Amino acid sequence: MILGIETSCDETAAAIVIRDQSGQGIIRSNVVRSQLDEHAAFGGVVPELAARAHVEWLDHIIAQAADEAGIALGDVDAIAATAGPGLIGGVLVGLTTAKALAASLGKTLIAVNHLEGHALTARLTNNVQFPYLMLLVSGGHSQFVLVRGVGDYERWGGTIDDALGEAFDKVAKLLSLGHPGGPAVEQIAKSGDAKRFKFPRPLLREARLDFSFSGLKTAVRLQAEALAPLTDQDVADIAASFQAAVTEVVATRSRQALERFRVEMPDAPPQLVVAGGVAANRAIAAALTGVTEEMGAVLVVPPVALCTDNGAMVAWAGAERLALGADDRLDVAARPRWPL
Ligand code: KG4
Ligand code: ZN
Repeated sequence: MILGIETSCDETAAAIVIRDQSGQGIIRSNVVRSQLDEHAAFGGVVPELAARAHVEWLDHIIAQAADEAGIALGDVDAIAATAGPGLIGGVLVGLTTAKALAASLGKTLIAVNHLEGHALTARLTNNVQFPYLMLLVSGGHSQFVLVRGVGDYERWGGTIDDALGEAFDKVAKLLSLGHPGGPAVEQIAKSGDAKRFKFPRPLLREARLDFSFSGLKTAVRLQAEALAPLTDQDVADIAASFQAAVTEVVATRSRQALERFRVEMPDAPPQLVVAGGVAANRAIAAALTGVTEEMGAVLVVPPVALCTDNGAMVAWAGAERLALGADDRLDVAARPRWPL
């Protein structure tokens, strides 16, 4: 039984997760406090405010996680916390808290890579077997990772500028749709004409599994400026055309990544696992369903609450590593950057 702590961005989260003898996961509690309200006025996450809110809330969130699981903290076998990558102030709050608990309760400490948490979540929720391809699309990351086993990852491509969620957020800001932008863009795109504007599909002609979204964002900005003042219909049409562009990019890249999976692992059934907040986008999910059906591959999308940042994914990554003997030292460092 593991306590998992997540504080690397704007969610203060803690969870109690069990990994049984057969390797099945059971979520006993999963408490997430979003800081959206703290950051709303600034149109994005302010690192210093985030760190302060984590300090203020983390103890309560951990107590609530233990309470909802019906346990005392001393009952856990290990304490796992995100040690990076992320906003360093927040990471320090979570990791230091985990160290203090591990030291005082005499428990094993496990310093978890946040990306590994996302990468392994589908095994907790859907009992997915290795190997699989993960598409992580969140506010901070956009990448394809081949997941061969616990601790055995190969990055196949990523964004060379903005993350996909970040692109949604910036477009939403341009269109005055508020923060976080993804859900707002998706909602308003429903009443828009996706064919009205032909936005660029960056890098799509190149044979590499990378993304680039900043040129697309600039094209959206120039279009919005050319039309200003924007009518509601203009806003909806821009949002719909933007979403169509990124959906096509993500679908095409996923098809290419699955083709590579086929070539490199001819004996393994192709599986695409999606993680990150953008997985909540229905247009993108529908396109990925189409691609995986066409490729004879399996698509796994964990429940949205577990695709976005949470403590259960950190607890689970800790549990999988604990089962392999992980035991980190109390002086393990917090890392703002930490590639898988
Ligand atoms: O994984 P997440 O909760 O946080 C991290 O960045 O780690 O992802 C949040 C991101 C935000 O950029 C948000 O705008 C985006 O996911 N997002 C969406 C949707 N829901 C959340 N993007 C597109 N469509 C959505 N429905
Ligand atoms: Zn994340």
